[in-house]
Amino acid sequence: MSKICVIKGDGIGPEVVDSAIEILNKAAEKFNFKLDYNYTLMGGIAIDETGVPLPKETVNAAKASDAVLLGAVGGAKWDNLPGDKRPEAGLLGIRKALGLYANIRPAKLFTPLINACPLRRRVIKNGLDLVIVRELTGGAYFGKKRTVTKDGVKSASDLMIYSDFEIGRIVETAFEIASKRKKSVCSVEKANVLESSRLWREIARKVADRHPEIQYSEMLVDNCAMQLVRNPSQFDVIVTENLFGDILSDEAAMLTGSLGMLPSASLNETSFGLYEPVHGSAPDIAGKNIANPCATILSATMMLRYSLGLSEAADAIEAAVEAVLADGYRTRDIAEEGCRVVGTDEMTELIKGKI
Ligand code: IPM
Ligand code: MG
Repeated sequence: MSKICVIKGDGIGPEVVDSAIEILNKAAEKFNFKLDYNYTLMGGIAIDETGVPLPKETVNAAKASDAVLLGAVGGAKWDNLPGDKRPEAGLLGIRKALGLYANIRPAKLFTPLINACPLRRRVIKNGLDLVIVRELTGGAYFGKKRTVTKDGVKSASDLMIYSDFEIGRIVETAFEIASKRKKSVCSVEKANVLESSRLWREIARKVADRHPEIQYSEMLVDNCAMQLVRNPSQFDVIVTENLFGDILSDEAAMLTGSLGMLPSASLNETSFGLYEPVHGSAPDIAGKNIANPCATILSATMMLRYSLGLSEAADAIEAAVEAVLADGYRTRDIAEEGCRVVGTDEMTELIKGKI
């Protein structure tokens, strides 16, 4: 029996996680495995109930589990708290505490959702199926932060710092993922300006030398932002540092036109991982039964695949999601003319029915 630490979080987090658990339970029945869920707190709800965004018990529960399934954290209610007390500090804290340095964000255009893509048809005629591998526990997010006032001038800084081993291991992850895909890695940095990027490039080249079977290229981050809208089919696996990856993964998500569909995995050097949708907590639509549960359901399939070794069940759930879309059902966020708009519950039932 695999132990899953569940963090529902805030906003639509609880409803999309409930939906993913229903799907997991259906798959467990069908494919004969058992999951044991341990519910814990993080984010705004943890601030309200325990006074901190990431209670120790949550970190301990996560460490004692095989994987973590997360909804989303944050909301206007907690927006005025200082940086280290905000719900997002819970997310950053758990990434660091569990050593989840490899953030895997696939951006795939589902064929039934091709009209959702904001790019012209001729730009995406070769499809869109890429993965952003984002370094998640280093860079400006975790470097030294300072705010100082000197001679009446207030200034603030966030140190973007990387060491060679942090770069090496994430670039290795990217090559490993590429070896199971189209065998191409593009390392993205700003080596024409940033010292940390120059080290990134030096280390990335060393890793590339060890994998001659994989095509390796380098791109400056500003150019990459442009190439993603100019010709996204050129990419297979993009590997980049934390802040660049945060920005580029939102851009890539928008290319699919369906943020509500995109899953993610954050892994450490073992098979342990935290799985969450790329979208946020969307407090404006929380509790209305209209949120799209697919991103969380697909995050759960990544969990089955990467942490639990249950790829057959993962395949079945992914096929079920595609089949429901192909039948013309859509949640409101991905609705288009001629489709049938359904709520969170109905979407979940439909997907269950196809497993
Ligand atoms: C993400 C989010 C987080 C990040 C925020 C909520 C702290 O934007 O996972 O991409 O910047 O990493
Ligand atoms: Mg982000």
